[in-house]
Amino acid sequence: LNRETLKALTEAIACSGKVLRWPQSFRTGDVPSTGGVGNKTPIAAAAMLAALGFKVPKMSGRALRHTGGSIDILESIPGFRAEWSADAFQSLVGELGFAITAQTAELAPADRKLYALRKQTRTVDSIPLIASSIISKKLAMGVNIVVVDVKAGRGAIIQDYDQALELARELVWVGTALGIQTAAVITENDSPQGRYVGNLLAVAEIVQVLKGIGPRDVTEASIELAALALILGSPSKSLERAREEATNVLLNGRAFDAFRSMIERLGGDISYVDKPNLCYRAPIKIEVTAPRSGVIRAIDAEKVNEALRPLVFARSGRRETLQERRSGVRIDRKPGDRVVKGQRVMTLFCGDIGSAEATRRMLRRAIETDEDAEHRPQTVLARILPDGCVEVPREIDAAVVIVKDVTRRGSTYLVQLNRRWGMFNFISGKRESGEDLCMRGTAMREVEEELELVRDEDFTVEEIATNPVEVIQYSRRESCYTRYQFYLYHLTFFGERRSLLQRLSRNVDNRWLTEAELTAGWSGDGSAVSPSVVRIVARGDLSLRALPTSFSV
Ligand code: URA
Repeated sequence: LNRETLKALTEAIACSGKVLRWPQSFRTGDVPSTGGVGNKTPIAAAAMLAALGFKVPKMSGRALRHTGGSIDILESIPGFRAEWSADAFQSLVGELGFAITAQTAELAPADRKLYALRKQTRTVDSIPLIASSIISKKLAMGVNIVVVDVKAGRGAIIQDYDQALELARELVWVGTALGIQTAAVITENDSPQGRYVGNLLAVAEIVQVLKGIGPRDVTEASIELAALALILGSPSKSLERAREEATNVLLNGRAFDAFRSMIERLGGDISYVDKPNLCYRAPIKIEVTAPRSGVIRAIDAEKVNEALRPLVFARSGRRETLQERRSGVRIDRKPGDRVVKGQRVMTLFCGDIGSAEATRRMLRRAIETDEDAEHRPQTVLARILPDGCVEVPREIDAAVVIVKDVTRRGSTYLVQLNRRWGMFNFISGKRESGEDLCMRGTAMREVEEELELVRDEDFTVEEIATNPVEVIQYSRRESCYTRYQFYLYHLTFFGERRSLLQRLSRNVDNRWLTEAELTAGWSGDGSAVSPSVVRIVARGDLSLRALPTSFSV
């Protein structure tokens, strides 16, 4: 879908049912997520928004493709009623300031139909379809401010981090284009978020977060979502100030009160909120121990979800039994913690000993350890603001040198195999401290190091007159997004072409690829070309064809 079609589709889904309207005096907001394993932020952060003075008309989903939805969590509280007519829902929001409904035939009904169709056509993880599905429901709810929690990693609907960034950008673009002030936060979900996975267990953890005693990751993500919503509402506020205000409603009990009143008014048995120990009463609790000693690198959220699915999310058109609602897992050791073989990492909560052993074995396989790497992943990985600006923790300037050969068979460009990543890249490298501000020195140094040539004797480089190419990429090794600014240079050799080609061919990592190969991201023999090369070549204002050959003789 191009962006105009995405916008039209989103609006059409929203208008397939009633579109709620609110008095001018209401500051309406919502904090949906794209769904994931251990997801509690949409409920926790919504209660925080309500405590911060927003009106929060929230429409949430039931189980998505792989994980339970916010409605499953809330419906695990006995008595909680999730389906309301549009009129009744509107009065609830007027009365309480905060209410949650499941999707009904009256509100964005096309989304439900499209979702069923997406399951059949295997397009559940289509980026534009996710973006239109989420934003259309916010449009139908009539909210002015939306901050989306886009989860990334193996627990998320979009597992790949670069694609999660693309989804976040699409969400922000389409929301903004339709008149909603929209921002997004990308949060880490390679391991389950929080300490509990399971429906009633999630209720108990939401209560902990709202009382200021929840796990670091869910609390941090919820504060970030609420703080960004505050900034969208009053742009002169600093992020620090907004985070402080969001933290205060956890500490002063207002966010908990908003959640409690909502659960009570919507029919939920309030004793599960007041005495969360009721949520932990599974009859069987089994330890899941570390298969190896080391530092926990990740607890594979996808495997945890698969292991729990038969126990917790046992939906076949019926409500779960109380036992299923109490089932789940407690994560006793999180990524970054050191464990010794045999030490408890998780505790399985379940009601049926029959399937418990198989589940325990599957959970054990989810535990990944490293020998020594200290590894505590950040929770908030990036922020995407309404103007499309992406805030990431690392910025790197790099020089890229394009070397071109022209023969009778056409033009080819020099790339080098990066053995660590198994991908071809242009000659390129990061600016080092103290290097020339215009980056020409960096470009020269890279050519000397990578091609074993001598500057001014063998070659020179000239800057290509384009703006630097910006590429934001996720690094698995560093567990963070990095913004690269690539400054482009063209190389000219002074020596004789044939002898230079001979010298370059001695290094088996040097290869000459055509523009078509660089654009496709694959060489003719099936080797990968780095995504940053593909992005550089795709830049509209860079014409490889217009570059002269690099050989002067
Ligand atoms: N949440 C939604 O509402 N729709 C999707 O497609 C994915 C997450």
